[in-house]
Amino acid sequence: MRLSVIGCGYLGAVHAAAMASIGHEVVGIDVDERKVASLSQGEAPFFEPGLQDILQEGIASGCLRFTTDMAAASWADVHFIGVGTPQQAGGSAADLTYVNAAIDELLPHLNRSDIVAGKSTVPVGTAASLMERVAATGATLVWNPEFLREGWAVQDTIDPDRLVAGVPAGDEGQRAANILREVYHTAVAKDTPFIVTDYATAELVKVAANAFLATKISFINAMAEIAEVTGADVTQLADAIGHDARIGRRFLGAGIGFGGGCLPKDIRAFSARAEELGRGESVTFLREVDAINLRRRERAVQLVIDALGGSVFKKNITVLGAAFKPHSDDIRDSPALDVAVRLHGLGAWVTITDPAAIDNASRIHPQLNYVADRDEALREADAVLVVTEWDEYRRELDPHHAGDLVNQRIVIDGRNCLDAEAWRAADWSYVGMGRP
Ligand code: UDX
Repeated sequence: MRLSVIGCGYLGAVHAAAMASIGHEVVGIDVDERKVASLSQGEAPFFEPGLQDILQEGIASGCLRFTTDMAAASWADVHFIGVGTPQQAGGSAADLTYVNAAIDELLPHLNRSDIVAGKSTVPVGTAASLMERVAATGATLVWNPEFLREGWAVQDTIDPDRLVAGVPAGDEGQRAANILREVYHTAVAKDTPFIVTDYATAELVKVAANAFLATKISFINAMAEIAEVTGADVTQLADAIGHDARIGRRFLGAGIGFGGGCLPKDIRAFSARAEELGRGESVTFLREVDAINLRRRERAVQLVIDALGGSVFKKNITVLGAAFKPHSDDIRDSPALDVAVRLHGLGAWVTITDPAAIDNASRIHPQLNYVADRDEALREADAVLVVTEWDEYRRELDPHHAGDLVNQRIVIDGRNCLDAEAWRAADWSYVGMGRP
């Protein structure tokens, strides 16, 4: 099939390359000339395992190309919209400027019977508001939310847990759903659930899933707060409740909380949309979810202050991790970086390292001391803070070896990812989050 993907950021670039890898001919379109130039060379503009390979294969085979020229879309039959929906400046609602612009610029290039498939995360009601403009060209609008996780984006796109298609009523909607089934033929052949809904349900599935995941993390972080005043251990608690299949252990990792380009902005946008719909009270709990999440960053800072006897002023603090999670160079709303910046603000000498995110972090927060080599970063530390659970710190950092590099053997495990026993056995003062 011939596909266009409009918007080649995180979602769009991965989608374009993944669709080429399953046999489609794809053109990726973006207004950013530098991004298009980089993608056209087979260079991924961000760190994502596996992306570079499928980009290069797609380009070499002639099935994948990138351009800034929207007119290239007229060659395709199915058009995916993958532009960003950031948080509005000064507000919490989603900014739909890029979605509206993408649709407006695409309209003159649509052919009758084309499919326009929205993938961006949008407030419920958006597809209905765009439908008429698309229908006027004879094309059909569907909403096909994306659930990919950074670090697993290629795998999640090619082999998703489920596919959701929000379609208009009647034969037109059925035809559109069938075309999407052909697009995702490899997943469909594996009997991946393919759920056909109306627009509103498809839009809500996406925000509900992210709201649930954020709530799960803040729930366990709330339990960590209670554990902290009672001497209980939140990691054992999570193991024990996680054995109940109705609860499940995943996303019960207590620590410094969630960040990234999706969960924080999506729960805020959901609250804002619910208010607009007169149903703010239905999701008031999401404000609490956000507040609990942000409190964990303060808590991590306080643990460092306490461990250093009441002040971090002019203390050497080594922060292991800057990305919002491992296997990513993304620092958007990164709790790791936020904690590092707060410590610097309190007068600490902060040295920070990360296997992938140093370049991005140093552009935004040049006041921190960035060191690429982990061992170099650990030298002379008065305290070590683990804030992104990369394997380089979680599995591969030997506490005896680390102990020989630092000034004082104090480690604050902001992700509860270290083996506390092993670190204590190597004479470290180990402090976890929500653990005695
Ligand atoms: C998320 C959703 O998982 C994905 O389905 C959606 O499409 C986009 O948003 P992503 O932002 O890539 O994906 O990250 P995710 O793996 O969900 O992690 C989000 C944040 O939660 C990270 O900062 C992570 O460190 C944190 N987290 C995750 C916890 O603090 N505890 C956990 O147990 C799990």
